Amino acid sequence: MRTREFAAPEAHAGLEWWRSAVIYQIYPRSFADSDGDGIGDLPGIAAKLPYLARLGIDAIWLSPFYRSPQADAGYDVADYRVVDPLFGTLDDFDRMLHGAHALGMKVIVDLVPNHTSDEHAWFQAALKSPPGSAERARYLFRDGKGAHGELPPNNWQSVFGGNAWSRAPGDSQWYLHLFDRKQPDLNWDHPEVRAEFEDVLRFWLERGVDGFRVDVAHGLIKAPGLPDWDGHAAMVEGAEAGNSGDSDSAGPMWDQDGVHEIYRNWRRVLDAYPGERMMVAEAWIARQSRLARYIRHDEMQQAFNFDYLLAHWDAAELRAVIDSSLAASAAVGAPTTWVMSNHDSVRHTSRFGLRKPGARPKGIDANGEQPNEALGLRRARAAALLMLALPGSAYIYQGEELGLPEHTALEARYRQDPAFFRTNGAEIGRDGCRIPLPWKANAPSFGFGASETSWLPQPGNFAHYAADRQDGVSGSTLELYRRLLHLRRDYQLGAGQLQWHTVGASEVLSFDNGQLHAVINLGMKPVTLPAGTLLVSSEPLNAAGQLPGNTAAWLLPAHRPMNTSR
Ligand code: GLC
Repeated sequence: MRTREFAAPEAHAGLEWWRSAVIYQIYPRSFADSDGDGIGDLPGIAAKLPYLARLGIDAIWLSPFYRSPQADAGYDVADYRVVDPLFGTLDDFDRMLHGAHALGMKVIVDLVPNHTSDEHAWFQAALKSPPGSAERARYLFRDGKGAHGELPPNNWQSVFGGNAWSRAPGDSQWYLHLFDRKQPDLNWDHPEVRAEFEDVLRFWLERGVDGFRVDVAHGLIKAPGLPDWDGHAAMVEGAEAGNSGDSDSAGPMWDQDGVHEIYRNWRRVLDAYPGERMMVAEAWIARQSRLARYIRHDEMQQAFNFDYLLAHWDAAELRAVIDSSLAASAAVGAPTTWVMSNHDSVRHTSRFGLRKPGARPKGIDANGEQPNEALGLRRARAAALLMLALPGSAYIYQGEELGLPEHTALEARYRQDPAFFRTNGAEIGRDGCRIPLPWKANAPSFGFGASETSWLPQPGNFAHYAADRQDGVSGSTLELYRRLLHLRRDYQLGAGQLQWHTVGASEVLSFDNGQLHAVINLGMKPVTLPAGTLLVSSEPLNAAGQLPGNTAAWLLPAHRPMNTSR
């Protein structure tokens, strides 16, 4: 076993690092391209590790880089133990991992257990085997309805649109795919499936990874008999109901009690390794009390907080989500997490620039409402001071530290997201948040790679956001994030406690976390700050020394204000 050699440096060997960690999501195909083929890769990531260390993050999470036909950008895995040649080799992975550890950063990899690629050896064997065979038992093959089995076995719809069942040409049976037809769902009642994934976990743990982000963690077990369901199996927006109430609206494919046994088994696998290895659940679950079950003491360590990602730019709504999130995770002794953007949602810089700030379109194209770019960025910078002042663990999506907006005018001919095709364009899809990063304003592909090629075209406005335009430039979003992350570490905000203050204006959030006092002005009118030392603000204060609209500040108060409430 090689785990010892990758032991974390002393500075980061703290107790349960993930409780307060800032974790940076890398979407490998769009991060940095070392060989000029237009697709980012592992050597590209390795070359940027010093940039990430300087930013001040604690860990990186890599979206999938495994062998895959890339029907869903790698979330369709054909071999869980092989690096796809697009991204490099296992040696490249080891070098990148070692490099990250040497700089004090942990590395989390993505695990995709709900489905494989249809090009996975198991599925290929299943297609070649008859109904009722052992090979088919690892997936969810069923006979169809109708006189000749010509109708799907039930009425489930794919998350990406259209029917959730397909038949291979000439095959008499249907197979279930909650996502694309190239992503057949596994049968998690099958012991071989369970054994295989425990082995995949060990494979990566032995290489030295610090944890796993578990894709579609609430989907592995389906209700017995696969009963019809008239709801629509949605992605992140599925959590929207969580803001409104307590109904158990999850369909028969989501959040079945049986998933927890799987995670308890995985936890035992992780705990057998030295160091603090962790798992984070990607589970779109409406009720926070149900989501909290995934992070009980013997299951995963974290779950993504999609209620926070979905919140509008609204003080009351944000405060309510923060309170309910803290309460739900405290009830099970787990840390809360915070996230504003990822590879599945419109970037928050752009969402916050919409007429209804924080609205949740499923992608934006040139025909849709175009966000106000400057206003969206201004709010996003203030939102960073809110999120990074909160106790718990925070996720940053690559490019967020540059203030990068969504590509809101990508032409249809470039689109690659299966959701766009499966809905005949009714869903614009997720390509706009996956555009390759701009590193240099005046280089081919804005410095993403060594050539002009990038797998999705970059919009011209990316030049303004290029890292080299912001590096060392006072007031830039990159320098703001660096400052926030360093202050967050210095004042141990991740491990702190939140104490709200009552303020006169309803559009202002104000709270303490330890010594630090944060004020977020979500309204338009300037507000007066309490006396104290200003540590950082998302925009300059106005001439009267007040905090302008859509601006936030962190300060060390001169004295504790009297009027506090929780
Ligand atoms: C997760 C991923 C998403 C992917 C889906 C299917 O939601 O984040 O990108 O399309 O799972 O694997």
